[in-house]
Amino acid sequence: MRKNKVFWFSGSGNSLALAKEIAKSLGESDLIRMTTKNFNYKLEEDFEDVYFIFPIHAWRPPRLVVDFVETMNFSNAKNIYAFATSGGAISDSFYYFDKILGKKGLSLSLAKSIKMPDNCIYLYNPPLDSPKNKEIIDNVDLYLSSSLDLSATQPPYQRASKISAMFLTGLVGSFFYKSLKNFDKKFFATDACTSCGICTRICPSYNILLDENRRPNWKGTCTACMACVHLCPEKAINYTNKTMKRSRYICPSVKIKEFLL
Ligand SMILES: Cc1cc2nc3c(=O)[nH]c(=O)nc-3n(C[C@H](O)[C@H](O)[C@H](O)COP(=O)(O)O)c2cc1C
Ligand code: SF4
Ligand code: SF4
Repeated sequence: MRKNKVFWFSGSGNSLALAKEIAKSLGESDLIRMTTKNFNYKLEEDFEDVYFIFPIHAWRPPRLVVDFVETMNFSNAKNIYAFATSGGAISDSFYYFDKILGKKGLSLSLAKSIKMPDNCIYLYNPPLDSPKNKEIIDNVDLYLSSSLDLSATQPPYQRASKISAMFLTGLVGSFFYKSLKNFDKKFFATDACTSCGICTRICPSYNILLDENRRPNWKGTCTACMACVHLCPEKAINYTNKTMKRSRYICPSVKIKEFLL
């Protein structure tokens, strides 16, 4: 019997919901969250099929996911799959991911993406009222299971046009990765914060600590997943004043406790 590892990364639960759906349809599989603490992960001998499930950030896989894969030891993997959730624009993300694997002598067997509500709250108000998103949110398990097709295709994924690949995944993606160094300077918590500490336990890069007044502080290693903004139970965390009036989003088939580290 083949055993599967399903590695997930998620800011508002879309990719976690997809990872759970994939694990369910595979049968015997381990679900592991990708965080900075489990960098250098060594794949056990008896696991052959490896799945990476993540959102698209600036037309690339999230920076932390790339770092996770670069530090991982999984040369014994037979098949590598990537499934992404996105707001609908992935450009050449899978080719970029395949090149990261290529540096380790590995390659993608299959990669697919599924369109989900866009959680990029610092740019847009998550469009929860659009008829398409409402339909997804109301029937998320059914939507994910019917959009999921794990059967291999040739080629293993669609390439983007040259212009899109060069400009979006190439230039904009590279600018975005570089900008992460200073990204978290614009976070703040309002007086609604109850000092519960949940934000310190959901951040995949362990980037949030409570200060002496038990208020969150961001420490400079943010990967822009937006989990702290969407999942703070008091909606106290903001990214510039722009997010003050915007709605928070959590995929309806996941719970905050599934993110707790
Ligand atoms: C920083 C950031 C950048 C994003 N960039 C893109 C993008 O380039 N293309 C896209 O279609 N969606 C983009 N999105 C939307 C997410 O990919 C999408 O909402 C995804 O389903 C979120 O999944 P999660 O809840 O598992 O994090 C972005 C979201 C964030 C937070
Ligand atoms: S999760 Fe929200 S309420 Fe809790 S400590 Fe963090 S900012 Fe404050
Ligand atoms: S600080 Fe917030 S947005 Fe940045 S990685 Fe942590 S949870 Fe994600």
